[in-house]
Amino acid sequence: MLTWLWQYIKPYQSRLILAIVALVATSALTLSIGQGIRLMVDEGFAAQSFEGLSQALSLFAIIVVALATGAYFRFYMVSWIGERVVADVRIDLYRHLVSLPPSFFEDNLAGEIQSRVTTDTTLLQTVIGSSFSFALRNSLTFIGGLTLMFVSNIKLSLIVLAVVPFIVFPLIYFGRKVKALSRESQDKVASVGAWAGESLQHIKVVQAFTREDMVLNQFSQSAEGAFDVALLRIKQRAILIALVMVLVMGAIAGMLYVGGSDVLSGQLTGGELSAFVFYAIMVAGSLAAVTEVYGEVQRAAGAAERIQELLATHSEIQSSASVPISDHAINLSNQVIEFNGVNFTYPSRPDHKALVDFNLQIKQGERVALVGPSGAGKSTLFDLLLRFRDPQSGSIEIEGQNLKHMNLQQLRDAFALVPQQPVLFSANVWDNLRFGAPDASEEAVIEAAKAAHAHEFIMQLPQGYQSFLGEQGVKLSGGQKQRLAIARAILRDPKILLLDEATSALDAQSEHLVQNALNDLMKGRTTLIIAHRLATVAHVDRILVMDQGALVDQGTHQQLMQTSALYQRLAQLQFDVKHLQ
Ligand SMILES: Nc1ncnc2c1ncn2[C@@H]1O[C@H](COP(=O)(O)OP(=O)(O)OP(=O)(O)O)[C@@H](O)[C@H]1O
Ligand SMILES: [Mg+2]
Repeated sequence: MLTWLWQYIKPYQSRLILAIVALVATSALTLSIGQGIRLMVDEGFAAQSFEGLSQALSLFAIIVVALATGAYFRFYMVSWIGERVVADVRIDLYRHLVSLPPSFFEDNLAGEIQSRVTTDTTLLQTVIGSSFSFALRNSLTFIGGLTLMFVSNIKLSLIVLAVVPFIVFPLIYFGRKVKALSRESQDKVASVGAWAGESLQHIKVVQAFTREDMVLNQFSQSAEGAFDVALLRIKQRAILIALVMVLVMGAIAGMLYVGGSDVLSGQLTGGELSAFVFYAIMVAGSLAAVTEVYGEVQRAAGAAERIQELLATHSEIQSSASVPISDHAINLSNQVIEFNGVNFTYPSRPDHKALVDFNLQIKQGERVALVGPSGAGKSTLFDLLLRFRDPQSGSIEIEGQNLKHMNLQQLRDAFALVPQQPVLFSANVWDNLRFGAPDASEEAVIEAAKAAHAHEFIMQLPQGYQSFLGEQGVKLSGGQKQRLAIARAILRDPKILLLDEATSALDAQSEHLVQNALNDLMKGRTTLIIAHRLATVAHVDRILVMDQGALVDQGTHQQLMQTSALYQRLAQLQFDVKHLQ
């Protein structure tokens, strides 16, 4: 863990050195307070001298001021490094996460990943920003204090050392128990949080199915579980506290008895005894402190390991050399997209082929529609084109370049996607529309919104384009979300347009209007449209009929009505439904 952390701490070496200097200085100064106490007792009280007392107190004041200054620098620098390192780790982690392919997020729970980014890094922060310095400081105090104890009085030191095991072992024993239980109780609390999060996020479904009681029940069960575990921990802790009091105070009393007898018999001055008690308390305290943070450091080591693991997950989708997609003049004789014998299986469903021996050529500027039953593999085709996944065999080429040999970013820059589920961010309309084209001017945004027939409803929102759309755009209707997703794609002005059921949530009239806008947008632009409603794709250059991962027929609407049994069936069903209406 340390070698891994070092690479993050290394850039801040000068601050680290300052922190260590301050740390050593404050430890030394803390211990020198013992001498201040000795002077105060011997020169002040014992000598009955006001002068001695005030001298001792002035020395004391100087030490305290120096100590405070040192503590200020120590705390500031150490905390600064802790916060800085964690910010760097978080950013690194997030940078890595956004580069991972979608499949990673299907196999790993979002909550899990989030806790890596937040909880685990926070744990690291506690350790770097406080526990390390705390442990180091206390170790120094321990060593220094012990040395001073022996230097000042060997007999008393040996007595203290003999008592130590009787104090330390019970402390470690109960301390371990408490630690294990607090770990468990943290996990319980986390599961309480997860329950609350999920059920509140889907509150509509919970309420619509009137499952409030069930959800509440489950929630209170986990809350009660957390309480029970906490209770066990509290009991152990209570015993621990009582035990510490008896043991520590007993030890001090014993020491005072032996030391006090020596003072009475004149073998020791009162000041020496006071200083010794001070050192002994410091030593005991620092020992307890070190064992306390030991568990914390261990937990942080676990967290660091999990973070390292996540950082080491390697993406199977690797970007290659930069091969930009050219700005070809519209030329229907140019091949743009080519699928050659593509076979694809989702790793989570190894026995089911999502695409089977798939061959397809699409020309520059061609408008192609994909139709077929649900689950035929249409959206999967888009995923492969955007290289969210790689086919197991066969190749996909754009302008004669295998996708695998292209630069990922340049490849994706050529596309605009309107996904099957419109995605909006918790931001305002401006930001959401500019998501694919951050530099677009205000006029361009409004124009795109008008083209997608979104401008009108945007203007009716409380703050127009400034309106905040809520998490995942909850403040909009399904059709409104879809129009924003289309406007976003229009604004991006891509070379290749991918529409996955882009108008499925619109009413007939807006669909007609948006369809017109899309037709304008599609002109001369290579476009792939997935649609269930055949009427919306009747005018494209070519319709591909897919079934169970295979391309079964292709042609124009008229041709397919003659030649494709599946297409006829799909058309027939839709025609019948229309008839009924
Ligand atoms: N992430 C995934 N993991 C495993 N299997 C998947 C995944 N996504 C899709 N599938 C499966 O792959 C097949 C093709 O899915 P795809 O989403 O491409 O269908 P589609 O043609 O777009 O259907 P629809 O018209 O309903 O959107 C389906 O059988 C589906 O269950
Ligand atoms: Mg789909």
